Amino acid sequence: MAKPTDQSYTLELVIPIQQNMELNASKLAENLAQSMDFTPEQCAEISMALLEGCINAFEHAQSPEGKVFIKFIPEPDQLKIILHDNGIGFDPKSITKPDISGKLKPGTSKRGWGIHLMEKLMDKMEIDSDATGTTITLIKKKK
Ligand SMILES: Nc1ncnc2c1ncn2[C@@H]1O[C@H](COP(=O)(O)OP(=O)(O)OP(=O)(O)O)[C@@H](O)[C@H]1O
Ligand SMILES: [Mg+2]
Repeated sequence: MAKPTDQSYTLELVIPIQQNMELNASKLAENLAQSMDFTPEQCAEISMALLEGCINAFEHAQSPEGKVFIKFIPEPDQLKIILHDNGIGFDPKSITKPDISGKLKPGTSKRGWGIHLMEKLMDKMEIDSDATGTTITLIKKKK
C-alpha cells in the first residue's frame, strides 16, 4: 500500500466561504501532518498557519464564487499546502512587519498579524497575488 508520503496522496479541498469552514481545512492539515510523522508542535503550527490563510481569504478576498481551493502535497521531506482564492488580490510588498509597541498604543489597529504569523509558523511562505486572485504556498519541512 502507498505511504502518506507518496505523491498519490495529494489532497484537494474546496471550502465555501462560510463561518467555521476554515476549521475543517485546518483539521485536515493537522491530521495529514500527523500521518506524515511531523512533531505535535509542527502539526499545530501547520494547522494554525492554514487557519490564518483561510481566514484572510474569507475576510479580504471578496471572491465572487465564494470558495477557497486548497491543495495538500505531501512529499518525503516536507508538506506543501497551496491555498488559492479568486478574489481581488493585494500587493504583498505593501505588507510591513507588525510592530508590537505601535499596536499597543490606544487607537491603533491591532490587526495585521496573519501574514507575519504564517511566515513564522512555516519554513517557507510565498504569496502570488494580482487582481484575479491570491495563491499562498506554505511549506513545512520535516525535522
Ligand atoms: N487572500 C487575500 N485577498 C486579498 N487581500 C488579502 C488576502 N490576504 C491578505 N490580504 C491583505 O493583506 C492584509 C494583511 O493580512 P494579515 O493577515 O497580515 O492582517 P489582517 O488580516 O488585516 O489582520 P489579522 O490577521 O491580524 O486579523 C489584509 O489586511 C488584506 O488587505
Ligand atoms: Mg489576517
